[in-house]
Amino acid sequence: MKRIAVLTAGGDTPALNATISGVVSRANQLRIEVLGIVKGFNGLLNPQVPHVHLNPLYNSIPELDPTMGGTILGASRDYVSGNDEVAIRQVADRLSRLKVDGLVCIGGDGTLNGMQALADHIPVVLAPKTIDNDLGLNYIDEQDEWYREENPDQPNAFRYRMREGRDFGLDEMINYATPGYATAVYVSAIHVQRIRTTAESHRRIAIIEVMGRDCGMIALGAAYGRPDLILVPEVPVEPELLVQKVVGLLDYQKHAVIVVSEGIVDKDGSPYGSVSASKDPAGNMLYSGASEAIKKMLAKELGDAQFVNKRRNDSADAAIFTRKIGHTQRGGRPIKFDRFHANQLGGQAVNLILLGKHNTIATLQYRDREFYVDSCPANSLRDRWGVIHARPLSRKFYDPERFRPSPLGIEYLHSIFHNALSEGDVESARSLFDTSHLNRPYHSVNVDINKRIRRLS
Ligand code: F6P
Repeated sequence: MKRIAVLTAGGDTPALNATISGVVSRANQLRIEVLGIVKGFNGLLNPQVPHVHLNPLYNSIPELDPTMGGTILGASRDYVSGNDEVAIRQVADRLSRLKVDGLVCIGGDGTLNGMQALADHIPVVLAPKTIDNDLGLNYIDEQDEWYREENPDQPNAFRYRMREGRDFGLDEMINYATPGYATAVYVSAIHVQRIRTTAESHRRIAIIEVMGRDCGMIALGAAYGRPDLILVPEVPVEPELLVQKVVGLLDYQKHAVIVVSEGIVDKDGSPYGSVSASKDPAGNMLYSGASEAIKKMLAKELGDAQFVNKRRNDSADAAIFTRKIGHTQRGGRPIKFDRFHANQLGGQAVNLILLGKHNTIATLQYRDREFYVDSCPANSLRDRWGVIHARPLSRKFYDPERFRPSPLGIEYLHSIFHNALSEGDVESARSLFDTSHLNRPYHSVNVDINKRIRRLS
């Protein structure tokens, strides 16, 4: 094997450069050239295939810094559709003109689908990434728990639901944690901790929304910031129970901090964020978001009197505030856990291509209190209809009565986070106040990478 290509697809995460760096370091050892495809699958759909030689003379280019968030290659949410035979053939032809013998795709479940389309034409391997931590399985036969029903709102479409899963041990998890997740949890927990003091001082209710789509893993990890209550998408919100908890907290400590995952649902399975949808002036639906919907519900149920008479606030609306942590969860320097394991998984992806384990996923596994890299066939993440589902936060990890991680959830988080930071991570906080930040404009890595981009003629 002489040359491989690598691309980063889907939303960025803090650990992408660390994974690319793992790919390149392993390739350097094996004397394999690495071409980085610019902007994920979008680069392959472009007839010129903009690409960067990442290891001239088997040395990584200096722009590739594993401690830097984002991806020097750029990313996009474009994918090669499995039904588009013409596009698939064009992409395969472009890869063969680039003379690459294999492709490493760094991505999540969407990437896995895009990669599948190419699997019959070129050896492909996925190196996982996603802050949502929803790529993998809680246990090997979990995909068999999915069943589907006809969707009454859409003819010929199905709604997929999952039966409550079986008990499992942590060492049964396939792809234990995905690079990007630990940093997202770190950022979320810090936000929760910082917002607490305002809620506490002003006797208010803070509702903090974290990312994660349909998976409550980030919300669960935000428990490190010590919120009072955590709401996750896997457990439908029960308004009466939530109101009762909040009243108890207000009575006892005069304020409350609630973490909500952006994908929380009501008892019918409808996303909370869209329940209070309104229209903007142009007539488009405006989704107020999960935290706003919970705020509205609490303001209505608790009423103004609760705050005006007891807390000396103006109204329920003024006393309850929402904050989305947003893209800060996905940005900036990756913490040690992510850096280290992303690097390992990048290297493992190259090994898998070399071993001929095509159409597989490099996975991070946990056994006997140790992490190690392994692999699983891409197909093992598909249900019997071929659909890849986001791995849900297991109900075994969450205590719905207490709105907190369960003992197993605590064990899971502890295994990842008890040693997740390095001294370098702590030290990096100091560099913020480097005086050069004040007088030197930001120099984007895109400028340097741009000078390295080559194209197919
Ligand atoms: O999948 C990663 C993620 O950050 C989700 O948690 C979030 O819902 C989504 O991407 C946001 O996507 P975008 O950056 O395109 O708004």
